Amino acid sequence: MLKSLAGKTVIVTGASRGIGRGMALRFGQAGINVLVVSRNQADADAVAARIGPHAAGFAADVASPDECKAMAEAAVARFGGIDILCANAGIFPPAKLADMTLEQYELVMNTNLRSAFFSSQAVLPAMTAAGSGRIILTSSITGPITGYPGWSHYGASKAGQLGFMRTAALELAPRGITVNAVLPGNIFTEGLLSNGPDYIAAMVAAIPLKRLGTVEDIANTALFLASEEAAFITGQTITVDGGQVLPESLDAIEA
Ligand SMILES: NC(=O)c1ccc[n+]([C@@H]2O[C@H](COP(=O)([O-])OP(=O)(O)OC[C@H]3O[C@@H](n4cnc5c(N)ncnc54)[C@H](OP(=O)(O)O)[C@@H]3O)[C@@H](O)[C@H]2O)c1
Repeated sequence: MLKSLAGKTVIVTGASRGIGRGMALRFGQAGINVLVVSRNQADADAVAARIGPHAAGFAADVASPDECKAMAEAAVARFGGIDILCANAGIFPPAKLADMTLEQYELVMNTNLRSAFFSSQAVLPAMTAAGSGRIILTSSITGPITGYPGWSHYGASKAGQLGFMRTAALELAPRGITVNAVLPGNIFTEGLLSNGPDYIAAMVAAIPLKRLGTVEDIANTALFLASEEAAFITGQTITVDGGQVLPESLDAIEA
C-alpha cells in the first residue's frame, strides 16, 4: 500500500482519451487534484466532470511553449501548485521514410518531443518553489527498444524523450524533482483501434502475456512513479508491455 497522495496536484496532458484519460481517472480516484489537458476543451471538461470537483479541464496544444506555460499557470491558479506532471500527449500518424514530408515529421516531433521540453519547463517554477516534483513521460517501446515500419519519426520522438529525460533528471535533481518515463507496449485505446483489427490480432499474438495492456496498467505505473515510495528513482524507464520486447522470435513465445 503506497502512502496517500490526496491533496497533491497533477497535470495530465493528452487526458481526454486513451492512456491519459486512464491516468487522470486513476490519479483523481487517489484524491489528487487533476488538470485534464487536451486541445479540445469540451473533451477535457468531460473527463474532469467524471473525476469530480477536484478536477478541471484545460485546452492547450502541448506543441506550443506558450500554451504549456498557460497550462501550468492554470494549474497553479486553480489548485495552488503543481506536484506531478504526466507529459503524456502524443500522436502516431504513420508515414514511411521514403514519402515523409517535413510537415509530417515536424507535427510528430513537436507534439511528442518538443512538448516534453516545454511542458517540463513550464512546471519548473511551481515545483522549484515547492522543493519537490515528479515529471513522468509517456514514451513507448517503439523507438527506445523496437521499430515499426511507418514510425521512424514517432520512434525518434519517443527515443528522444529518453535522451531529454536523462539530462533533465540531472539538472533537476538539486531542486528535488525526479524525471522518469513509462514505456508502454500495445495498450488498448481508441488510438490503437484506428490501426485496425489485423494489427491488434498480430500484436496480441506477439505478447507473451497474451493480451493488450490496459490504460490502468500504465496509470498504475505512473501513480507508483509519483508516489513517495518512488522518491529515490530518477532518470529511469519502466517498460509495461506484457513481455512483448523479450522474445527473439515467435518460436520463443510458443516454445
Ligand atoms: N496506445 C498505445 O498502445 C501506446 C503505446 C505506447 C505509447 N503510447 C503513448 O501514449 C500516449 C497516449 O497515447 P494514446 O494511445 O492514449 O493516444 P490517444 O488515445 O490518441 O489520445 C491522445 C490524447 O492526446 C491529446 N493530444 C493529441 N495531440 C495533442 C496536443 N498537440 N496537445 C495536447 N493534447 C494533445 C488528445 O486530445 P486532443 O486530440 O483533443 O488534443 C488525446 O487526449 C502517447 O504519447 C503515445 O505515444 C501509446
